[in-house]
Amino acid sequence: MALAAAAERVAAEFEYSAQDVQRGVKEFIRQMDEGLGKQGATMSQIPTYVTAVPNGTEKGLYMAVDLGGTNFRVCSIQLHGNSTFSLTQSKVKIPQELMVAKTSKELFSFLAKQIETFLKTHHNEHYVNHVERRRRGSYIGASFHDEEVFHLGFTFSFPVQQSGINKGTLIRWTKGFDIKDTIGKDVCALLQKEIDLLHLPVKVAALVNDTVGTLMARSYTSPGKTGTLLGAIFGTGTNGAYVEKLDRVTKLKKGGSKAAGDVDDSTGEMIINTEWGSFDNQLSVLPSTSYDKSLDAESNNPGIQMFEKRVSGMFLGEILRRAIVDLIKDPSVPLFSDEHSNQNDIHSTTNIHDQSALWNQWGLDTSFLSIASGDTSAGLKVTRQTLDNDYGVSAASAEDAEAVRLIASAIGKRAARLSAVAIAAVILSTGKLSHPTDIATTNDAKLEVNEDEIVDVGVDGSLVEFYPNFEEFIREALRDVPEIGVRGERRVRIGIAKDGSGVGAALIALVADRAGKGATAASSSTSAGAANGGGLSGFLSQFMADLNRNLRMRV
Ligand code: GLC
Repeated sequence: MALAAAAERVAAEFEYSAQDVQRGVKEFIRQMDEGLGKQGATMSQIPTYVTAVPNGTEKGLYMAVDLGGTNFRVCSIQLHGNSTFSLTQSKVKIPQELMVAKTSKELFSFLAKQIETFLKTHHNEHYVNHVERRRRGSYIGASFHDEEVFHLGFTFSFPVQQSGINKGTLIRWTKGFDIKDTIGKDVCALLQKEIDLLHLPVKVAALVNDTVGTLMARSYTSPGKTGTLLGAIFGTGTNGAYVEKLDRVTKLKKGGSKAAGDVDDSTGEMIINTEWGSFDNQLSVLPSTSYDKSLDAESNNPGIQMFEKRVSGMFLGEILRRAIVDLIKDPSVPLFSDEHSNQNDIHSTTNIHDQSALWNQWGLDTSFLSIASGDTSAGLKVTRQTLDNDYGVSAASAEDAEAVRLIASAIGKRAARLSAVAIAAVILSTGKLSHPTDIATTNDAKLEVNEDEIVDVGVDGSLVEFYPNFEEFIREALRDVPEIGVRGERRVRIGIAKDGSGVGAALIALVADRAGKGATAASSSTSAGAANGGGLSGFLSQFMADLNRNLRMRV
């Protein structure tokens, strides 16, 4: 079979039609409802617990750490009290062996060690003073004077059954992590224990999923008065957290991990961490090619995170790798073989190195999809160079690169359209589009959208950031849903909340800190806050207002 035809055949397997999108959205809404009603549903729909208190002129240094995928990030946020804040951060790759360690201790002691290094590097004076005070014995019992201790927001981006602002047990690992010993344990306590063993002046004050942090961060940085509905990650993994009506979270009323009486219902709303990566694990509507199936079968969690395995960065490269390897092995298809290439431009023989990462599971990085799909260079030179430099395929022809580009684009587009299913389902199930002004004021001819009609969505992650046209593909699919259509799609504002999870976690740590102290308010802000136009007091009071409006919870 000619190469181009073979590539088209494979690409067609990834088509995800308008009907598929519609069917997907219906089922997504059904599984969201199911998750709100009972524990243990496919979609976990986890209630989050956040105290909202800051109300004035906060100053101080807060920390946030972020464990969620490839890297561990440590950052500190200095609230200056004069409408600015500054952020310092460091990042380290998580060693592969720690992701599948035998004991939790191996991983969590590594994390604590990174916090120690960060403190010594960036806050050495504070650290040294603390050690000195300890030496002099100026601490009360086992706990230190509160003002000496950093309050830390722990962004832990895995499914956790949260039972308090800094308490939550791991339900399951995702994204390649697999440490059996951690399941069912309180991850804040595990981290605190290792921090204490190193005698660090740090208190784990808040436990936050990255989607919740993204929602928080976006909620105060998004322009205008519209509160953000959804924070979503399309990165190594995928997930979303959204503002839900409290009375729809019926599993809270039925008891569960937290009794209804423990929930402050004054706003009538609560942020829900959907854990939509596990949408449709039963595959009732999700598309399934042979590549999806073999990827899942050979993963460390078969049958789990089936939506994530079709959408997120950890998996898209592997889907493409499997498709490419199948074509290479098919003797009737001349991929990476000189035989049927018109010419290979470097006039040498195409060769795949024995040690090529293409032969290894997870060997193809998802960033390659972005490179190939977005390649506009003559003869797809950039793609061919990447194949050569990173994947040991020397002298690939333009035809080879075109075949690879076609399949990569199809995989990326399917991921974006599936992402739209999740976004559409949240928008429709929360009834955000049925705002009365939709009918009263929207000008059909001009399709103008009033500020108060906007449905704001904060997103973060490598795919939205780097995959070419990811948002446009999402929008196309949103328009394919009749209940949203062209008019509804225009009301959806999607904005990047870059590193929102870190900032969001620090802010929640601040909130938790203030709540704990019952202190009077202060004001603060961010260097990024300059983008808001507001000062720090503007930033925080807006943040507080949003918190109070959207999700005030008592723990
Ligand atoms: C995975 C995790 C989830 C996280 C998402 C994005 O799906 O289970 O908690 O939010 O990845 O990082």
